[in-house]
Amino acid sequence: MTTDFLKGYDIQYWLESCPQGYLMDTEYGHQPGEREPDVMLRDPVLREQAVRTTVQLILGERCALAASSGLINAAPDEASKRFLATQTLDEARHVEVFTHRLLDLGIKNNELEEVLKTFANPHLVRFAETLLEVVDRKDFVAGVVGQNLILEGMAFHVFEMMQAGSQQTNPKFAHTLAGTIADERRHVGFGENRIGALIREHPERKADVEKLQREMSYHMLATFGAAFREGPSPQEMAERLAKAGIESKGGQDWQGVRLGEATPEELEQVLGDTILKEFKKRLQRVGVEYQTPLVPM
Ligand SMILES: [Fe+2]
Ligand SMILES: [Fe+2]
Repeated sequence: MTTDFLKGYDIQYWLESCPQGYLMDTEYGHQPGEREPDVMLRDPVLREQAVRTTVQLILGERCALAASSGLINAAPDEASKRFLATQTLDEARHVEVFTHRLLDLGIKNNELEEVLKTFANPHLVRFAETLLEVVDRKDFVAGVVGQNLILEGMAFHVFEMMQAGSQQTNPKFAHTLAGTIADERRHVGFGENRIGALIREHPERKADVEKLQREMSYHMLATFGAAFREGPSPQEMAERLAKAGIESKGGQDWQGVRLGEATPEELEQVLGDTILKEFKKRLQRVGVEYQTPLVPM
């Protein structure tokens, strides 16, 4: 079996582009010396919202770490094993940088697991469990679709939206996100390349993969529904930031929506729509048909 299509996914490429490239001279993902804006630590509402958001990022990244490392031993070829080894380190780094953000927000090391439990979105927990069940069965095809196309396709756009929203208000967090976005782009690229070839070899796997996609999409939409209903509205956040002299209103546009002024419903809608639109395109490219999930209540 030839794995020429994995040329851009070897360790040498990873070394040059990532640790020796865009991560050069960073410190926990951001520029050395950058800090959370003071208001994030002073204003209890903003701080709690930052903690809540960061907790979901850590849980998503812990899932990606467990999945990418678990898939190494399920991979049918050596090139994929080596790529997944680089991805495992990327995911461990993501867990670390987001965990570090919680410490920067004043969470103590010994409070960490309790904070994760308190703020965990139960739908995100189900989403992660669904993926890890497949990985535990050593089902490489479904595992890569679940992780590299669905989980990371979702993470990619969530990070992008957060990065657009924090460019003005929190450059440190925006820089941390920029590095993770670059990593996720590579992970999604691997997923598409590898799965496209495997689905052509094993068309009989399509039905399982479509079932997993439908289930994970359901949990993902439920995650967003719950996430945008919790915590302060974007308008309240903007007002609280403005009081501290940080302007966010009229700021960044993302997918045609002005982030500082949108309602929670508008944000949920644009994020869900963007992710699903991209899912459909990606799945089509690998020869899998998108299955519309039930609408979460
Ligand atoms: Fe990640
Ligand atoms: Fe990733």
